Amino acid sequence: MQDYKNPNLLLSETDFEPGKVLWRSPSNLAIVKYWGKYGVQLPRNPSISFTLENAFTETVLEYAPRTSGKEGVQLDFLFHGEMNEPFRLKMVKFLKSITDIFPFLNQMDLRVQSANSFPHSAGIASSASSMSALALALCSVEDELFDTLGDDDAFEKKASFVSRLGSGSACRSIFGTMGLWGEMDGVEGSSNLYALPYADNVHDVFKTFHDDILIASKSEKSVSSRAGHALMEDNDYAEPRYRQANQRMKDLLSALQSGDVEKFGTIAENEALTLHALMMTSEPSYLLMRPNSLKMIEIIRDYRQRTGHQVYFSLDAGPNLHVLYPEDIVHEIRPFIENELVQYCEDEIWIPDWVGNGPVQI
Ligand code: PMV
Repeated sequence: MQDYKNPNLLLSETDFEPGKVLWRSPSNLAIVKYWGKYGVQLPRNPSISFTLENAFTETVLEYAPRTSGKEGVQLDFLFHGEMNEPFRLKMVKFLKSITDIFPFLNQMDLRVQSANSFPHSAGIASSASSMSALALALCSVEDELFDTLGDDDAFEKKASFVSRLGSGSACRSIFGTMGLWGEMDGVEGSSNLYALPYADNVHDVFKTFHDDILIASKSEKSVSSRAGHALMEDNDYAEPRYRQANQRMKDLLSALQSGDVEKFGTIAENEALTLHALMMTSEPSYLLMRPNSLKMIEIIRDYRQRTGHQVYFSLDAGPNLHVLYPEDIVHEIRPFIENELVQYCEDEIWIPDWVGNGPVQI
């Protein structure tokens, strides 16, 4: 099994040139969800997501020869220009866990500055965008210092692998349009270790799909994704769920290929509600949807029935709604959101977003 451990990535000279890399990496929205894991962030079932455009993290990573003589990972960290000790400690822990992949991290002083495009307090999970941005930056540093990742595919594969170690779902954010993660019959090269770009077999209608994010509540999640994945281990529905996810992946890939928006939307909604049903049926049980999440779901379904417009919803592990619809009805759906849904958003916050082209180095 590929693990990317590489003791050769050590600098022989300790007075190398200081450098700086900057990556912008997007968040993603799973249509078939990853929920349940084993080993080191390995998924119990395959998943696939839209890569977003507007919700992203920008990460600047500066490195310089170590002057302090201290051991281990040495990191300064600024989030939105301010020191943030809890985030810094989380990042140090993650960097320490990957020093066998990037041994040179122990030879430098690091400074990371990170900022999200969306308000930190909006209750949008940022682990996918932030972990993928960091992983891309680390791969760029490796390539600058050792010239090892010049091939784009090799670079992206390693960046996806490293992102996965930071946050499972982050491994899909490396690729534009859609990312597919997890072994799946019929998808060549699919792996539990990293995601694959998934755009070639996707009908054009989905390449410009909208994915607006409606903030039902800005509060922090009461149960983390990490705890949620762990609760799947004793969930009575776990095994049937993994079977179901595999079947839904097959059905979804065929809908993506043929451009069947209705089938796509039905799967997206069922997946969102299944994810939350799994939370409700865990022990202890928990609920992340809020009354306004349900209210908005009902309004979307009612609007779809009334108008025939193909607008659907999804949810992440939180109360906020993702409103999914094709580009050709944007002039109907935007006013619908403004007139009928925004009143159920906390502080009337919603973030227009759509399927994007993936990360960029700046
Ligand atoms: O990447 P994690 O460990 O935060 O898990 C997130 C899983 C979901 O967002 C709920 C679903 C998914 O596949 O992205």
